[in-house]
Amino acid sequence: MVSEFMLQQTPVNRVLPVYEQWLARWPRPADLAEEAPGEAVRAWGRLGYPRRALRLHGAAVAITERHGGDVPADHAQLLALPGIGEYTAAAVASFAYGQRHPVLDTNVRRVFARAVTGVQYPPNATTAAERKLARALLPRDESTAARWAAASMELGALVCTAKSESCHRCPIAAQCAWRLAGKPEHEGPPRRGQTYAGTDRQVRGRLLAVLREAHGPVPQAALDRVWHEPVQRARALDGLVADGLVEPLAGGQYRLPLT
Ligand code: ADE
Repeated sequence: MVSEFMLQQTPVNRVLPVYEQWLARWPRPADLAEEAPGEAVRAWGRLGYPRRALRLHGAAVAITERHGGDVPADHAQLLALPGIGEYTAAAVASFAYGQRHPVLDTNVRRVFARAVTGVQYPPNATTAAERKLARALLPRDESTAARWAAASMELGALVCTAKSESCHRCPIAAQCAWRLAGKPEHEGPPRRGQTYAGTDRQVRGRLLAVLREAHGPVPQAALDRVWHEPVQRARALDGLVADGLVEPLAGGQYRLPLT
């Protein structure tokens, strides 16, 4: 579950060191649950999209309270945990517990788009047609389905990547609809770029970095130094407070959340 939260929007090579430190520090959900949420945000480091750290902390609390500290194996119970959506519930039930669920992450969606639908990239947001296709492709047998889920994701992560497809290394190249059609270029709406420089996300990242490195309240002036433009800086800080990632204190001080 920890790795799936981290891998949702961050590549494996960046996740690995943080993941290992995280599990060494908090081997069980109950270990994380008894920490302040701000400690989860601190340990999240530079993985980005830090609301994931708060959600993982919230899930650990719920697992401790509702399930005696064991991550439930039941898909509906997983889905009922705070911060766990369709993807994470399916990934944990399939990868950790060997069950039969369609696991549709961005890697798998790209593999299906190419191999079956014959287009270069999947749509920007997951469609009903993609879910239907994923269910139709899933092998009947439970353990084969679990292996299929891991294999299709691995194929997308390592071979059929967004930037370069390595058809010469692909075990299903001979059946791939996109390759057989002559690899037509993407036609749909422009794909979302991952712009960072100059965005509020970058400012939020810098503000949080100051708070992660400080062990105790930080004065406004220390935060003001991270970004030159006051309107954007204030908006970014307000956003962090609204998201519960930063706690404002009396006297213009800030810290990572204690509750
Ligand atoms: N993204 C999300 N889960 C992943 C996994 N298990 N392997 C590779 N990339 C992933």
